[in-house]
Amino acid sequence: MSTSSSPEMQQLASALAEGVASIRSSTSSDDLRTLMSALTGKKGAIATVKASLGKLTDIDARKALGSAVNDALNELHSAAETRSRELRTAEFAEQIQSERVDMTELALSARTTQRRGRMHLVTQATERLEDVFIGLGFQIAEGPEVETDFYNFEALNMPPSHPARSMWDTLFIESDVEGSVVLRTHTSPVQIRVMQEWPPPIYAVMPGRVFRKETPDATHMPVFHQIEGLVIDRGITFADLAGTIESFTKAFFGSGFTSRLRPSYFPFTEPSAEFDIRRPDGSWIELGGCGMVHPHVLRAGGLDPNEWSGFAFGFGIDRMAKERHGVNDLRDMYSDDVRFTEQFS
Ligand code: PHE
Repeated sequence: MSTSSSPEMQQLASALAEGVASIRSSTSSDDLRTLMSALTGKKGAIATVKASLGKLTDIDARKALGSAVNDALNELHSAAETRSRELRTAEFAEQIQSERVDMTELALSARTTQRRGRMHLVTQATERLEDVFIGLGFQIAEGPEVETDFYNFEALNMPPSHPARSMWDTLFIESDVEGSVVLRTHTSPVQIRVMQEWPPPIYAVMPGRVFRKETPDATHMPVFHQIEGLVIDRGITFADLAGTIESFTKAFFGSGFTSRLRPSYFPFTEPSAEFDIRRPDGSWIELGGCGMVHPHVLRAGGLDPNEWSGFAFGFGIDRMAKERHGVNDLRDMYSDDVRFTEQFS
């Protein structure tokens, strides 16, 4: 008997042809999956042919039909694999298309409807100051805005009820021990923190926000910014202080500017001075305070005054920004009005 023409073989051939055709015309991966389980499952046309194997008495015919069934199943699987690949490629392309965002359109609308922000004048000034001091070999440090009495006053050579404490109109934070926690009135407490944490030699600047009980006016704000400088090394003298202030003045303001020191008083420096900057037109701007770090302060920072000496300086950043940009009233810098900030870029 010719096996190729047996009814089972014919049934198998047509099941295969139909199966392949329906695989090729399936329209989605989900469809294909459902279709394949129908075609190769127990109730599928191929399974029906397979079930008839047992009825065949002719061994050769049974072997031939058996392997034809396996071939047919393999063919269905490979057709399904090809189709699945095609479908997935198409589905992915479709997904990309549907999730596509037109960036050119976004960019265009941003350009026409959104205003570009600018850094605050004080931020710009702070960053420039940091750059200049980094150029002079300094590192940047920061400390907390809420300070203890110890760091803000006592370690800076101002024991409780020292009269010099009244140089700063202090804002206090409620605490268990009344008056022991303050909003720092200057950046000088960071000197102590740096001395306690960094092994000398120290070349550091410490910018930050400070707070004083002041009524806002054209030249005063209750919240403003300072930058503190601290140098601790062996054999540091007042000449190093004067030289550093002068180098900074030229690097920050330009070669036409120069600096001078006037005797002054701060409890944490001895001797102390105030420093001014001379503009090219000959007029002077008062900038800040400075001096040689007091031995009591070195000790509070954990350093031996017989081994180490140093100088410190501190000045207001807001006033410098005001000077530089010709702003008349400090309050304008904090008005949140973009028409003001837009003037400076
Ligand atoms: N902390 C002082 C002030 O706020 C400035 C200063 C800093 C003076 C360092 C001397 C040394 O006025």
